[in-house]
Amino acid sequence: MKPAEQFVINGGRPLRGSVAISGAKNAVVALLPAVILADEPCTIENVPDIRDVTISLQILSELGAIIVKRSEGTYEIDATQIKDCCVPYDLARKMRASYYFMGALLGRFGQARVSMPGGCPLGDRPIDQHLKAFRKLGAACRVDRGMVDITSAGLKGDRIFFDVVTVGATMNAILAAVKAEGTTIIENAAKEPHIVDLASFLNSMGADIRGAGTDTIKIRGVQYLRSTSYSVIPDQIEAGTYMVAAAATKGDVTLTNVIPKHLESIISVMEKIGVGVEQFDDSVRVYYDKPLVKTSIKTRPHPGFPTDMQPQISALLCLADGTSMIMEGVSEQRFQYVDELRRMGADIQVDGKVAVIEGTGTLSGAPVKACDLRAGAALMIAGLAATGITYIEDIYHIERGYADMEGKLRALGADIHKEPIDPSGDEVRSNRSICG
Ligand code: EPZ
Repeated sequence: MKPAEQFVINGGRPLRGSVAISGAKNAVVALLPAVILADEPCTIENVPDIRDVTISLQILSELGAIIVKRSEGTYEIDATQIKDCCVPYDLARKMRASYYFMGALLGRFGQARVSMPGGCPLGDRPIDQHLKAFRKLGAACRVDRGMVDITSAGLKGDRIFFDVVTVGATMNAILAAVKAEGTTIIENAAKEPHIVDLASFLNSMGADIRGAGTDTIKIRGVQYLRSTSYSVIPDQIEAGTYMVAAAATKGDVTLTNVIPKHLESIISVMEKIGVGVEQFDDSVRVYYDKPLVKTSIKTRPHPGFPTDMQPQISALLCLADGTSMIMEGVSEQRFQYVDELRRMGADIQVDGKVAVIEGTGTLSGAPVKACDLRAGAALMIAGLAATGITYIEDIYHIERGYADMEGKLRALGADIHKEPIDPSGDEVRSNRSICG
């Protein structure tokens, strides 16, 4: 077993240069299961090298798909020989997005058996709306010993109205409906860019999906989905994370391979905080322009400010003088990272879904732990901006969703490296917290 590792960051150095943004995690974790619906082999490009992709490919392979890595980030996948409809528990539990295999297997075979998604530090994350969608299409769903068992005698299109705006259930409804008999109308649908990407991918194979990106999506079932070669959209949240890191370190960074339109709400908030932003066709330049301005922000479903950017922007606002406020409008609980930022000198009070940040202008390095993917990103940003050294443990969370973050940051001038954690880390860690 490989010893646990930590990132070690010597902060206070401005990030300068350019960074290429990778393919979108929250798109590719739906596109890979979607290949199960294809009647011919497919090629997917711009696939990010992240752990969630590794797990998705392992599940596809376990189900019987033939996967050939054509080059870095390009995979040819032949899922036509898949016969198995059960996703192994030991793999499914490693990744919440394994629930997309429910919709894909149901859409292809009329049945699926996938484990309930694991718990998550973001609070209660039910899948009732996913199951509601499947039932509306004629499937029976039951939970049996931690597995979701879905069966049907053939899916028929229907009207699906979501009680809450949900990315996952919207994606799963599309996956299940694309080959169902008749027409499906999804109302109160999520509108994230990765939903449009899934629809575009399926339409490139011959599906008939209209309205993705709006709150009403119309799907006419088709019999056959042909081969395609498709490139994953750039990751809106990875891009936002590097934008914040540039501002937090008083740097000047150009992000390449982005779709500026996907970044509109993030750019708007960054400019409100006083950060300089220049937009080009497929790149964005972010630079520290003047002292950061305290700001109040509420996270919302797309096109609002993304919840997946909430921890990162909180770290930035710790560096703005004055009182800022963050209201979490999507996730149930998304402030667990605050305790770790407090270890770095942050002054943040949390009351339910609201955090009040007393910006102190500075942060100090400390030993901290990532509790989830975006919390880890926020601690990376705080460490880059802090004076002194920050040690970040549980970095597997970060590596789930950010391709080569260490290498990309080092190329921008960050003093960062990865090292194994000393097994007797506890007293070493506590010594560090005393010595700073
Ligand atoms: C997706 O999660 C993303 N994950 C999350 O990104 C992201 O935070 C979230 O969407 C919101 O944008 C992937 O795409 C793999 P939801 P998901 O269904 O689909 C409630 C990251 O950091 N809800 O849109 O699980 C739910 O409780 C990750 O990349 C129900 O009530 O989110 C939540 O409050 C973290 N019933 C709200 O809807 C359901 O059946 C939004 O959840 C489903 C959801």
